[in-house]
Amino acid sequence: MKKIDVKTMDQEKIVGSYARYDLVADHGKGAICVDEDGKEYIDFTAGIGVNSLGFCDEGWIKAVTKQLKKLQHASNLFYTEPQTRVADILTRRTGLKKVFFANSGAEANEAAMKVARKYSNNKYGNDINWIMTLENSFHGRTMAAITATGQDSYHKEFYPFLKHSIYCQPNDLEDLRRKVTDKTCAIMLEIIQGEGGVENLEPDFVKEVEELCRQKDMVFIVDEVQTGIGRTGKLFAYEYFGVRPDIVTFAKGIGGGLPIGGALFGEKVCDVLRPGNHGTTYGGNPVACAGALEVLGRMDEAFLKEVEEKGAYMKEKLSALPQVASVSGMGLMIGVELKEKNAKKVVDQALAQGLMTLTAKEKIRLLPPLTITYEEIDKGLKILERILALA
Ligand SMILES: Cc1ncc(COP(=O)(O)O)c(C=O)c1O
Repeated sequence: MKKIDVKTMDQEKIVGSYARYDLVADHGKGAICVDEDGKEYIDFTAGIGVNSLGFCDEGWIKAVTKQLKKLQHASNLFYTEPQTRVADILTRRTGLKKVFFANSGAEANEAAMKVARKYSNNKYGNDINWIMTLENSFHGRTMAAITATGQDSYHKEFYPFLKHSIYCQPNDLEDLRRKVTDKTCAIMLEIIQGEGGVENLEPDFVKEVEELCRQKDMVFIVDEVQTGIGRTGKLFAYEYFGVRPDIVTFAKGIGGGLPIGGALFGEKVCDVLRPGNHGTTYGGNPVACAGALEVLGRMDEAFLKEVEEKGAYMKEKLSALPQVASVSGMGLMIGVELKEKNAKKVVDQALAQGLMTLTAKEKIRLLPPLTITYEEIDKGLKILERILALA
């Protein structure tokens, strides 16, 4: 194929909805990405928490290509084995009862919100339909998901939004109790607000949300799109707080790089959807599910423990840097607040020096592949340390 100038053609032909960094990703292996000129980068992004096994993991490639040669798609009008197997693993490992498969995080949250409204509608009539989410949250870009997202910066210019949405201040028990009414049907939250700046929720707050949902028969939804599938050192981050959500949404890391998302439903809501109520053509696609099976199959106790340990190791090293004000997150989902430097500038400088990182609000955000080695972590942290030390 003729070589093209990717950057120029991209800017000309692709809508400008992404502020891309100056890197044309060509290929990769594990936690190393290689650009079109052969320059290597250490990857502390995992495709924004997607490539949980890193680039081109051998086991994952084998699983995906094996399925690809067998059956790439059949539609949700027919049964397929990989989808059933993923659902079996997720339900057995969480104790939740059933799964709806989608293709992305936003779609997973759409399904969750639709189910919450239908649950309340079926039981109490049309009136109880308010959905509460948190200020500073992020739940995706479709109209319902963006409505649920409690950040004005994502809203402006796209009004009007879904009616009957309300936002509560994170970790503010008083605000929570004041804003829940007899018309509220669901509360949705992220255990760590990822796009919101890697802000951890407090266990007491999450427990109170659960308690209120039980008392008032509301649906308790946890959005684990970024925190889920091993990212924090547990299969799902809610496990750290000993709560039992009615719905858990997932996407990103489960496919290991292929588009798949979904919602897990507990006893209360697992039979709300009936044939024709909801669906999506590609949801639970066999090839994406074959990737998910490999990812989930690798995530045993030892793997998850390592994620926790690597996260603790990174956090300790980062906290010791004099330019760092604080470090947040859990496992390999890490936010770094800087004392003075501008995070976006540091991320740009890191990229130029061969390290891929992200921002989240005013912080540097690190989401390395869960399989990253200590050697790669050390190399990446050295680059960051050097940049932070620059005058
Ligand atoms: C917590 C959370 N929910 C939902 C989404 C949306 O996921 P997607 O981009 O796959 O629609 C994201 C994406 O960053 C997320 O972090």
